[in-house]
Amino acid sequence: MSTARGLGIVGWGAAGRLMAAAAERTGRFRLSGVADISEDARAHAAREAGCSVWASVDELAGARDVDVIYVASPTVHHRAAVETAAAHGKHVISEKPLAVTLEEAQRVVEAAQRAGVVLLVGATHSSDAPVRALRRLVEEVRLGALLSVASACHTDWHRRPRSAADLDAGQGNGLVLRQGAHQFDILRYVCGGVAQRVFAMTFGGSAGRERGFSACISFGNGAQASAYYSGTGGFDSRLLTWGVGELATVDIDPGPPLGRYFALPGREAVTQVSPMFGTTVATFSEGTVWLTPRGLLIHEETGVREQSVAGQLSGWDAVLDEMDSALEGRQPVHDGAWGVATLETCLAVHESARTGAPVSLEHQVALPTASHFTALKEIS
Ligand SMILES: NC(=O)c1ccc[n+]([C@@H]2O[C@H](COP(=O)([O-])OP(=O)(O)OC[C@H]3O[C@@H](n4cnc5c(N)ncnc54)[C@H](O)[C@@H]3O)[C@@H](O)[C@H]2O)c1
Repeated sequence: MSTARGLGIVGWGAAGRLMAAAAERTGRFRLSGVADISEDARAHAAREAGCSVWASVDELAGARDVDVIYVASPTVHHRAAVETAAAHGKHVISEKPLAVTLEEAQRVVEAAQRAGVVLLVGATHSSDAPVRALRRLVEEVRLGALLSVASACHTDWHRRPRSAADLDAGQGNGLVLRQGAHQFDILRYVCGGVAQRVFAMTFGGSAGRERGFSACISFGNGAQASAYYSGTGGFDSRLLTWGVGELATVDIDPGPPLGRYFALPGREAVTQVSPMFGTTVATFSEGTVWLTPRGLLIHEETGVREQSVAGQLSGWDAVLDEMDSALEGRQPVHDGAWGVATLETCLAVHESARTGAPVSLEHQVALPTASHFTALKEIS
């Protein structure tokens, strides 16, 4: 008999499919069922995954062979799905952002606590192996104190076909809430979790219609971070990350004239790598570190050395690993309180952009001490 945990997925869209693929890779989870309100999506799920399909979260959560539910429906539906799953005693991984408002996110956390189930906020890029390696350098103080982190991302997020709902912060969407959630998550993780103040501006729109943003964030450990994101299309930061993007695939081909400036290694050369969320550079008192798809490039006074993360889990695989570890009793990083804190950071960007003033944060949580490093297993 299989000892793999049963996974249920709410929403057979882009995220749902990616999680199903990760579950298959782990061997520690098996896809037991999918719930989707769309008949068409249910038909796709039945055909593509060959599992039970349900029209409601309630039916999926009631299934006996489901232990953990991954909520990958649009953000506005996260709260109801998490509450239903928790009421059935199922552990939950909710997609980001956890909810639309802070109050709603706090209710979600309380529902999980009341039911005594584990709640994680999943698929965060702070689960990527190079990001964990960078955090380890910070904790081990190998390069002195962390002074600052700069994250920059250029994509076509805003140029892709988007519905009105996709660009509505009131429904938990738009660039700051959907993509900023990843970027602030990375920065919070590297800087220890406790963001203190946010000063930000958006450009090309507001309240979810923004085409980009710039944010400065100060942290409790004395470090500062800058996050820049442009979703306007055109220049793509994968040209600066060896062609590797958010899904750890190389799907950019710089023809002329770009090829003269950006010599990429090509698809064949770039296998077994980690996702890249734009460029991330950390400045320490005694060195500078660049994140790469293979790990870290560490610049010290004595020269440059590489630190490889080959074989370590990233993305959805790492999220499942974190749930597996949490169910074995280890303290997770990306729990509900972590998700509330990242949502607070996103909402502060909107507020600062609207008022022109810095925003102080009050719901931040620190990383648990180093326990997450040992929890993350390596690919065999
Ligand atoms: N972590 C990541 O990298 C990542 C990537 C993509 C999306 N996401 C997140 O995942 C969530 C979904 O995004 P997506 O791009 O997969 O969306 P999508 O539109 O591709 O898919 C959403 C699916 O949910 C279904 N759905 C809608 N309402 C539902 C409900 N009430 N109950 C059950 N199913 C419902 C839809 O029919 C659709 O099939 C969002 O919160 C988004 O922020 C995260």
